[in-house]
Amino acid sequence: MSDIRKKLKLAILISGRGSNMMTIHKSCQDPDFPAEIALVLSNRPDAGGLAYAKDHNIPTEVVDHKEFSSRDEFEAEMHNRIEPYKPDLIILAGFLRILNAPFVKKWPNRILNIHPSLLPEYKGLNTHARAINDGKTESGCTVHYVVPELDSGQTIIQKRVPIFNDDTPETLEKRVLEQEHIAYPEAIKLVANNILSE
Ligand code: GRF
Repeated sequence: MSDIRKKLKLAILISGRGSNMMTIHKSCQDPDFPAEIALVLSNRPDAGGLAYAKDHNIPTEVVDHKEFSSRDEFEAEMHNRIEPYKPDLIILAGFLRILNAPFVKKWPNRILNIHPSLLPEYKGLNTHARAINDGKTESGCTVHYVVPELDSGQTIIQKRVPIFNDDTPETLEKRVLEQEHIAYPEAIKLVANNILSE
């Protein structure tokens, strides 16, 4: 048996602090983890996660959506900047732009997203406030494949957390985020191992 373990290349797309990207990066330090980060791309030049990526010698790209007059042009440029890194998977980690069908269809079954609710409940924004307002006793996060319809692709992994009577959107967000940091590396490992065994 060969000692050289194949690793899939990840392009991670962020818009902000990038805590999910950081936990994925930590998982990638494990020699048995089947993936490595080839690129961190942000649509915001001031995204906090870019500094972490640079500090850890991860290649970064910025494609500022504000510089484009249409979403299709923005996404075409993103594709041009991602493609040279030849990623096997595109990982949306707090990437706060909706992706149009032409971009999504270029990477069939190769784009993953993490969403802070138990999909199909609470697609879209303000998931924690909506769950609390509805009197739910449970929430969580979902890692799923990305399809052109928002937050609708096949679920890969879900993690559940309780909602307590005195929860605010902030306290619930913190509890869910802890689970996101477990769920995303697990989901990437699952998907990458499936691809590697194809
Ligand atoms: C996470 O809650 C994720 O579920 C949502 O945006 C947040 C990103 O956090 N899509 P971070 O940038 O990974 O810290």
